[in-house]
Amino acid sequence: MVRFLCGAGIRQFLDIGSGLPASPNVHEVAQACAPDARVVYVDNDPMAFLHAEAPIATDSITSAVRGGLRGHERVLRGAAELLDFGKPVALLFLGTCTTSRTMTTLPPRSPATFRRSRLEVNS
Ligand SMILES: C[S@@+](CC[C@H](N)C(=O)[O-])C[C@H]1O[C@@H](n2cnc3c(N)ncnc32)[C@H](O)[C@@H]1O
Repeated sequence: MVRFLCGAGIRQFLDIGSGLPASPNVHEVAQACAPDARVVYVDNDPMAFLHAEAPIATDSITSAVRGGLRGHERVLRGAAELLDFGKPVALLFLGTCTTSRTMTTLPPRSPATFRRSRLEVNS
């Protein structure tokens, strides 16, 4: 999916519920396709956040924000330090909305809230 989006010209990715590192990770796939692709990882799990922070030491176009679907304003403000919300941003929610705990505790239409809120963050 990331490769497809990158091929379509997307250069910014907001990966919500990024999870523990896998191989390859989103920033590796995106930056292999476009070296200038920017990726922000978001997770509300402290361990996942710590692991997501690791690439930042060597990479100025990848960052991590600790937070979740509930705190979209804080997450979007953190992400806006790296991402330009005036340009297209791919919102990834891969495997994040599938757990019953997440589904039952989220406000309705949380992903849509992220999409709408980016406009406010950008202003
Ligand atoms: C099954 S993992 C998916 C990881 C990765 N996106 C993937 O596709 O391999 C789900 C991740 O979503 C995170 N998560 C679940 N609910 C969340 C929420 N409300 N906000 C942010 N992250 C959440 C969990 O901490 C976990 O790291």
